[in-house]
Amino acid sequence: MRTVEWDNGAVKMIDQRLLPGTFEIAEFTDYREVARSIKEMYIRGAPAIGAAAAFGMALAAYQSAADEPTTLMRDLEAAAEVLRRARPTAVNLFWAVDRVLRVAADQKLSSPDDIREAVLADAQALADEDVEINRRMAAHGAALVRDGDSILHHCNTGALATVDYGTALGVIRMAHEQGKKIHVFVDETRPRLQGARLTAWELQQLGVDFTLIADNAAGHYMRTGQVDICFVGSDRTAANGDVANKIGTYKLAVVARENGIPFYPVVPTSTVDLNCPTGDDIPIEERDPEEVVGLTRQGMPIAPAGIQVGNPAFDVTPARYVTGIVTENGVAYPPFGLSLRKMVLGEGDR
Ligand code: MRU
Repeated sequence: MRTVEWDNGAVKMIDQRLLPGTFEIAEFTDYREVARSIKEMYIRGAPAIGAAAAFGMALAAYQSAADEPTTLMRDLEAAAEVLRRARPTAVNLFWAVDRVLRVAADQKLSSPDDIREAVLADAQALADEDVEINRRMAAHGAALVRDGDSILHHCNTGALATVDYGTALGVIRMAHEQGKKIHVFVDETRPRLQGARLTAWELQQLGVDFTLIADNAAGHYMRTGQVDICFVGSDRTAANGDVANKIGTYKLAVVARENGIPFYPVVPTSTVDLNCPTGDDIPIEERDPEEVVGLTRQGMPIAPAGIQVGNPAFDVTPARYVTGIVTENGVAYPPFGLSLRKMVLGEGDR
């Protein structure tokens, strides 16, 4: 199934907290539960969060007992507020909620039922477009991959991080489907281990050759000439090309530059926030310290109790470390202020 989908009045999603051990589908009929599923990371990855939020808005529309458009709009605004609070960094969440609200506000929709249908149709369209966009993006990115390349990847940006197919991992998947012989170094991605748990799971099923590495090993593989190119995702990319992505991305980009290795974020235009002039304007989510210290080893805690813990979920890679940004409309190159805007406006290669 897709990572998230609408099924007969319910939102269904793969519960990613349990992978790779258990494959379980969670089902929600209340938009507040969808907001919780985003916060607690049943579903994660910027595009997947966006699609879940859009379907959450559809649930809210059908949950509302409103019998006139203005009341329904009030209920939808309230649901939008709850969904927006789920996670702060991935701009796709805000983009999706705002897009659905704009559709609902269309004056041509004269009855609450018309609005409900339009909201659901738009959420479904957004999910379908995500898959199509990922494939277009993958084609642009795969053109950068040479036969025999060794690729470094961080976090999980695959089918699980999107509605289907993936962003950076979609590029890797397409290069593999094109018959290119590639090898992927998969960062385990502490603290939540999206690389070890999710990316390794996806690549194993796809039959892509890969090696799982501790995050701390990436620099070693780059310095010793074992990495040809890096592909990562993004949760929000600023207008100047600064890229917010999973914590640890910045360090990778700096080491890649030091070693002359091209570094490409793969970013649907829905992840570009032209309202954020630079990465400093992007809110960085701070998550529960338990994610860092809650692991056990041989049944024992990995750190002493009662210590101070920092857990930023994302960092910002300044645009100067970015070789190019792969979008569904082509690859943007520096200066990103101009090229990214062109991609967002759909004036790239398509
Ligand atoms: O905290 P997560 O797992 O939601 O973080 C995901 C990432 O950082 C991805 O790289 C990003 O969302 C792009 S996924 C297509």
